[in-house]
Amino acid sequence: MLKVVNLVGARPQIIKASAISRAIKGTFSKKIREVVVHTGQHYDHTLSEVFFEELKIPKPDINLKAGSGSHGAQTGTMIIRIEEMLNEIQPDAVILYGDTNSTLAGSIAAAKMHIPVVHIEAGMRSFNKDMPEEINRIMCDHVSTLLFSPTITGFKNLIREGFMPENTPPYHINNPKIYHSGDIMYDNSLFFGKLAEQKKQLLKKLGVKHNAFALVTIHRDNNTDIPERLTAIFEALLTIGKIYKIPLVLPLHPRAKKSLASLNGSLSEEIKKSPYLKIIPPVSFLEMTLLEKTAGIIMTDSGGVQKESHFFNKACLVFRPETEWVELINNGTALLVDADKQKILDGFNKYWLKKGLRFPEFYGDGHTAEFICREILDNLSIRD
Ligand code: UD1
Ligand code: UDP
Repeated sequence: MLKVVNLVGARPQIIKASAISRAIKGTFSKKIREVVVHTGQHYDHTLSEVFFEELKIPKPDINLKAGSGSHGAQTGTMIIRIEEMLNEIQPDAVILYGDTNSTLAGSIAAAKMHIPVVHIEAGMRSFNKDMPEEINRIMCDHVSTLLFSPTITGFKNLIREGFMPENTPPYHINNPKIYHSGDIMYDNSLFFGKLAEQKKQLLKKLGVKHNAFALVTIHRDNNTDIPERLTAIFEALLTIGKIYKIPLVLPLHPRAKKSLASLNGSLSEEIKKSPYLKIIPPVSFLEMTLLEKTAGIIMTDSGGVQKESHFFNKACLVFRPETEWVELINNGTALLVDADKQKILDGFNKYWLKKGLRFPEFYGDGHTAEFICREILDNLSIRD
């Protein structure tokens, strides 16, 4: 029996881990044993617990309770605690997701203990190292043994950085294997897409109707922590509400909520009084999926939400100057509007209720998690 640590920390990682957990529970229950470990990076009920309950992931066997902090303090605490945990569990591999500080900490701790790192969502690059996530993902990729890229672009990024697609087994940190595997988030959207209808009462509660509202999320540090950027985004949202007379639903990350509270007085008053902006706490994954399926348009700085817009055939305005998910931009269904009021307004005008958009399948066949588990099993069962 192969023993893997399935390491999560932030909201999107818990959601992604559910796809791997499902595959292990299904096809691989007799071959792979997972130990779910939570670093504790996210700890609010709405950013953590709710997903374990709803997505039926085994509750974390261990919570390292690292909590919030500066990058160094948070990552350092995690490395120390992950190392202790790995010493105790002695897994055959550690599975890491995406690009958070939990990913970075897990990769450093595991690689230096000679435990193979499996990186899911490898190869994604914004080519902007001002983003903490860009540093985290590059560092993690370069100490990984199996690297699963969701897109062909990510796969090519890895080759450009010196990874060799022709490597043959046995794989090792010095002889890593790269895959263009598809995206486990697409597996999730297929699995949970229908179940989301259970949450229909949320639409009633919010007073929104199919294709008649915009869904908005904001959480990137450069949008929440730079007042000029947050101001520009909110000025644009207020203007859209007034011109189009439509509700804008914002399930707001606590980081954005805190920053909103410190915006200049008159804007913050206007936001509070606006009949169009519906600011609510973060929602569960099924609720979010339902909102994505029913929104007329999606505006976000989230990586995951950009892709989910595509899965549910929605146009997406991206509050960033660049994205890792370039195929969405090239497809003409997502648009980089940065935190630029005029670009946001122009983008909205272009895409609101636009017909005839096409959403090709860029993200695999919906069975990526099984593929990944099979490769882990075949390649990491005997440790060097
Ligand atoms: C993190 C990831 C980001 C990911 C996002 C997903 C890093 C560097 N960033 O950003 O890549 O897209 O998660 O949502 O790893 N906070 C709470 N409650 C919580 C957790 C955080 O209120 O449960 C607040 C705290 O004030 C904290 C701030 O949010 O300081 C930032 O949290 P942190 O985990 O450092 O980064 P995120 O912005 O959530
Ligand atoms: N999400 C959610 N509830 C919310 C906002 C987002 O369940 O209120 C989900 C969303 O559907 C996606 C994931 O969280 O699957 C994206 O996480 P986030 O935007 O926090 O991080 P990123 O993807 O940018 O790293």
